Amino acid sequence: MANRNQYESGRDLLSPNKNFAPITSQIDDQGSLMVGECNLNCLAERYGTPLYVLDEVTIRIACQAYREALKKYYPGPSLALYASKANSSLAISCLVASEGLGLDAVSEGELLTAFKGGVASENIVLHGNNKSDQELLLAYHNGVTIVIDNQNDIDRLAEIIPSESPPAKLMLRFTPGIECHTHEYIRTGHLDSKFGFDPDQLESVLVQLKAAKWASLNGLHAHIGSQIFELKPHDDLTEVMVEALALARRIGHPVEDLNVGGGLGIRYKETDDPPSIQDWVKVIASGVKEACQSRNLRLPRLLCEPGRSLVANAGLTLYRLGARKEIPGIRTYISVDGGMSDNPRPITYQSCYSACLVSRPFAPPQEKITIAGKHCESGDILLKDIDFPSSSTGDVLAVFGTGAYNASMGSNYNRIPRPAAVIVNKGHADLVQRRERPEDLLQYDVIPDRLIALG
Ligand code: LLP
Repeated sequence: MANRNQYESGRDLLSPNKNFAPITSQIDDQGSLMVGECNLNCLAERYGTPLYVLDEVTIRIACQAYREALKKYYPGPSLALYASKANSSLAISCLVASEGLGLDAVSEGELLTAFKGGVASENIVLHGNNKSDQELLLAYHNGVTIVIDNQNDIDRLAEIIPSESPPAKLMLRFTPGIECHTHEYIRTGHLDSKFGFDPDQLESVLVQLKAAKWASLNGLHAHIGSQIFELKPHDDLTEVMVEALALARRIGHPVEDLNVGGGLGIRYKETDDPPSIQDWVKVIASGVKEACQSRNLRLPRLLCEPGRSLVANAGLTLYRLGARKEIPGIRTYISVDGGMSDNPRPITYQSCYSACLVSRPFAPPQEKITIAGKHCESGDILLKDIDFPSSSTGDVLAVFGTGAYNASMGSNYNRIPRPAAVIVNKGHADLVQRRERPEDLLQYDVIPDRLIALG
């Protein structure tokens, strides 16, 4: 259970990733939790549950934090790109574009969402370790930068870009030999990763691309992992990347963009203490600046690709408490009306979250309980063995930090429709994703005539 400071006075107002609750969280006169000046019980009533709630102010503050820190700590040009795999929607694309961010997409679907959401294509990069010809052509024809991940990308582009057409804008991804686990990292010569070229191949690929008329290599990319709390791996990354920049320029590529990926961790639990956005950017910016100065290199444009730290803490999910099962001496389960289909992170990564009752966020704990999802899977547990106040069926539960890698990784397991999502600000709540209906899930099913005949 959270302490009051987490919702009100103890917040870091400049770096949303340091608070598990959205920046605008407040307690109203009745003692209930509000976000974006909206009463969460009213939202649950109006839109139903489970419900994803996104706080506009928190997303904007996170965007501004990246933008301003880049401006403050990096003397050259810079751009933060939103890693849209964290949560891809028209509304979020529109919002990040309005904050001057670019966007990282990894599929045709994410590309279309970004285009329709109003992100300028020159500010979009396309990633992926197995891009289809269709994805490559969509990116190429729209002037999106394609991140070359492997030899297959090179071979496909060489074949599909018509001769005499303008060259494709490219960035080259390599594995920098820095491996991050959440709280530790190792440096190795080679990495067991499906993404990017091995550092040993870098020189020959750069030479190969120099001879390709269809290719215009303008950037280098590396990404070392996600939910990282240490700053040292990113500091080391800048050194490795600037070395690669020097090599690419020596070979004759006019490389101007250095993209260090994303990875900054966020607070999910009270005990988590990630670095601020400002501290992360400072390390990256100083690292690149110093590594360039010591080699007498022209400063590149500095790009980064945050996902989680831009949107996770802006989001929370509302559920209603349902069935209760007490197994004396073992465990008490309280089930909610969602679970692994709207938040697959606990079952996938054993991720921990923080939660509270919307009506009584500071009610003292009375018992240890486990919040279970409603799916037909024993592992569908959202929060295990948490201290919880007394509660009743129908109470609304808020689970924090669900703005990233929840909706985007959701499923229809057990044919459960995806929740609605609303964005809140200054007392207004607007729908950004409509709730699916069970009948929507049937729309792509087909019964072959042959089977109907058998019936
Ligand atoms: N750039 C690239 C190339 C990436 O692969 C990723 C994340 C990012 C940027 C953004 O990283 P972030 O700032 O969000 O850490 N599903 C996992 C996370 C997977 C991250 C995949 N790549 C989870 O729920 O924890």
